Amino acid sequence: MTSLLGSKVLITGSGGGLGRSHAVLMAERGADIVVHDIKREGAAETAEMVRAKGRRAEVIICDVRHIADFQRDIREASVRIGGIDVLVNNAGVGGKRRSIEEIDEAVFDEMFDIQVKGAFFATQAVVPAMKEKRNGRIINISSIYAMGGNANASHYAAAKSAISGLTKSWARELAPYNIKVNAVAPGFIVTEMTKGSNTPQNIAERSARMPLGRFVEPQEISYAVAWLASAETAMISGQVISPNAGETIVGY
Ligand SMILES: NC(=O)c1ccc[n+]([C@@H]2O[C@H](COP(=O)([O-])OP(=O)(O)OC[C@H]3O[C@@H](n4cnc5c(N)ncnc54)[C@H](O)[C@@H]3O)[C@@H](O)[C@H]2O)c1
Repeated sequence: MTSLLGSKVLITGSGGGLGRSHAVLMAERGADIVVHDIKREGAAETAEMVRAKGRRAEVIICDVRHIADFQRDIREASVRIGGIDVLVNNAGVGGKRRSIEEIDEAVFDEMFDIQVKGAFFATQAVVPAMKEKRNGRIINISSIYAMGGNANASHYAAAKSAISGLTKSWARELAPYNIKVNAVAPGFIVTEMTKGSNTPQNIAERSARMPLGRFVEPQEISYAVAWLASAETAMISGQVISPNAGETIVGY
């Protein structure tokens, strides 16, 4: 099993869903976690789950769109926990499905502010200390929609494509400092974000199209995130890994 013993990991948007799953698995493997979310209750619950694994949890409650506050909170939490070794840029919104005509400027900006600017400025807050230590991991959460796009979700697919661009650019820029940057790109996972479309019929139809025959569980995304945070991937950077039950082999 991949060990993360002693790693200090900040996971944005870890007050529920996939972020919580990453926090719990990484704590189980020995990491201390900075839990961040806009939702106070969800973040507190995740922090308790981390502590129940015998690891330390610090909590940040902040909207990623409040950039100055967010960066200040990250720096303060980093001091409290003893430095951030791994940043997982996970916070995100799916938004409603909308045609091109339905995506107005406010909807477009919200998507990019949370998904792209959120990841960018969280990274900006942790990079100086990682550069100084000549060590760090940044794991961005993209989506299969960054690979093949999606009708009626072009703003989401565009934001996730930007995340892939950031991943590759940061991997190049930060390699001289031994900071590795990769992305994990899930397919459709049953979480709060997808509850509008995870009807039993949709799940059955979609599972039938998946070469591996079933939906990917949140923990199976966390396995990839934990692996990318571990010493086993010291020579992997600039990659996008997609645990998606083979969905992108056949098209979705
Ligand atoms: N669920 C899927 O099918 C799927 C597929 C591909 C990629 N993803 C990506 O995985 C990540 C996690 O998604 P999820 O399915 O767990 O969704 P989720 O809605 O369960 O969790 C997202 C978390 O981000 C937090 N968040 C949202 N906006 C925020 C803001 N402005 N400031 C601070 N926190 C904020 C939410 O409170 C929530 O806890 C997202 O980046 C999402 O785009 C999800």
